[in-house]
Amino acid sequence: MTPEPEGGEVAVAIRGLTKRFPGVLANENVDLTVRRGEIHALLGENGAGKSTLMSCLVGLYRPTEGHIELATGGEPLHQVDIHSPRDAIRLGIGMVYQHFKLVANQTVAENVILGVEGVGFVPNMKKVEAEVAELGERFGLKVDPTAEIWQLSVGLLQRVEILKLLYRGAEILILDEPTAVLTPQESAELGVTLRHLANDGRAVIFISHKLDEVLAFSDRVTVLRAGRNVATIDTKDADKAGLAKLMVGREVLFDSDREDHDPGAVVLSCDNVSANDSRGLPAVAAVSFEVRSGEILGVAGVAGNGQFELAECITGLRSLTAGRISLHGDDVTGISPRGFIRRGVSHVPADRLGMGLAGGLPLTDNFIMKRYKSAPISKGRFLRKRAITTLSDEYIKKFAVSTPSSATPARNLSGGNQQKAILAREIDAGAKSGLTPLIVAAYPTRGLDVGAIEAVREALLAERLRGAAIILISEDLDELLVLSDRVMVLHSGENMGVVDAVQATKERVGLMMAGESVTQ
Ligand SMILES: Nc1ncnc2c1ncn2[C@@H]1O[C@H](COP(=O)(O)OP(=O)(O)O)[C@@H](O)[C@H]1O
Ligand SMILES: [Mg+2]
Repeated sequence: MTPEPEGGEVAVAIRGLTKRFPGVLANENVDLTVRRGEIHALLGENGAGKSTLMSCLVGLYRPTEGHIELATGGEPLHQVDIHSPRDAIRLGIGMVYQHFKLVANQTVAENVILGVEGVGFVPNMKKVEAEVAELGERFGLKVDPTAEIWQLSVGLLQRVEILKLLYRGAEILILDEPTAVLTPQESAELGVTLRHLANDGRAVIFISHKLDEVLAFSDRVTVLRAGRNVATIDTKDADKAGLAKLMVGREVLFDSDREDHDPGAVVLSCDNVSANDSRGLPAVAAVSFEVRSGEILGVAGVAGNGQFELAECITGLRSLTAGRISLHGDDVTGISPRGFIRRGVSHVPADRLGMGLAGGLPLTDNFIMKRYKSAPISKGRFLRKRAITTLSDEYIKKFAVSTPSSATPARNLSGGNQQKAILAREIDAGAKSGLTPLIVAAYPTRGLDVGAIEAVREALLAERLRGAAIILISEDLDELLVLSDRVMVLHSGENMGVVDAVQATKERVGLMMAGESVTQ
């Protein structure tokens, strides 16, 4: 029997948990104890096994080996079998998933009561509403109980999910990457709520891969790497470099050095650009800005505020409803995507396998997509196999793409290696145009592990130094502030202002992301 840790009473103990999927060892012999009254961060890279471990705890998955002990409902620690999320909630364990599970055309209170056991009669909604309001007041989760779900922002939806758990009496609350969808201010508020919950004697498990938040919010942190618990430490004894090393398994450099240098001529200029989204609703609203050679313009905003559509406008993939785009001083409004490519515009799209790569095709075919019509790749109507292999090997080497061979289908590569392959092709295509390249990179590091993130960032910084104009769209404010020269903030499709990245604070950009226009 493992000795119990010092401190508060143990609420849940995971003992020797192994979870195997066909061909994947997602969790290996994990021990983890979480106490009442603590916020316990579960930190790890993408794929480290965090969600799987917690899914075992809430009965979504059955552990292959190992077991779970609980001390909820006033009982001493004892082994339990959890077969379903319903079992879990009966035992006092609840989870807020990455994708919310709310019913759009019902009210907050109706969603909270939905599926609660023992409600065999028509619930007294007034009473439920009052209880929801009271819980909201107590834990910093204010939301109008009579509002319908479709009216609420993502931050408020998350509150409803937490309220659902509290209403069901959860003593152990698990939140899977809850800040991924929040502005910095909303994240800070969530941090306060988590502390209220812990102070109330509940156990909070907070899953994250963001070191700053783990350090700011938690009392203890457990680091998972490749499915194993590599350390559980008191947060007060932890620091960023140490945690990153545990998470990745080697030293990680945080300061991408963005060398100072003066930007050159204007490459892209947008003048009151407006565009609709795919449903025909306004998505980009009279946005104006410029990007110069040798600079990175960051684009910040909560997902769904027009970033995606703007990226398509400036790569020729989406037509404008108003406004003008010029490249190198020439009006290019309305020209084809191929016209943009010819003028040195390259695109690292958000949807890596949908738009970036043809998953079923070998890397070689993916590499020559933009070049198959010109020498040395083709001669007349013939593709030159030797030249294609040479080019592919060059890309693979230069960007350290880890792949069995250049004949491997793109979909068999990990996300990080797919992204490196796209970057190799796009950067090279821009350089071949003979004009100053414009690189439009949408969420280029999303979902990648720390090593691949470093490689992508370094590639963008290197192109900046070589004179490319770069537009970097990202949800990660830290990334934007580290890499960009200037940051433009979009809210509801509007440009809320452009700030100097060196002087900007996260708080200020966060306010702009929430719709406040703040000028320099
Ligand atoms: N249902 C599943 N079937 C097969 N493999 C899975 C399944 N769920 C997760 N995995 C794999 O298990 C590993 C851990 O995944 P996950 O727990 O989601 O990691 P994290 O939440 O830390 O990003 C990954 O390799 C993932 O691909
Ligand atoms: Mg996960």
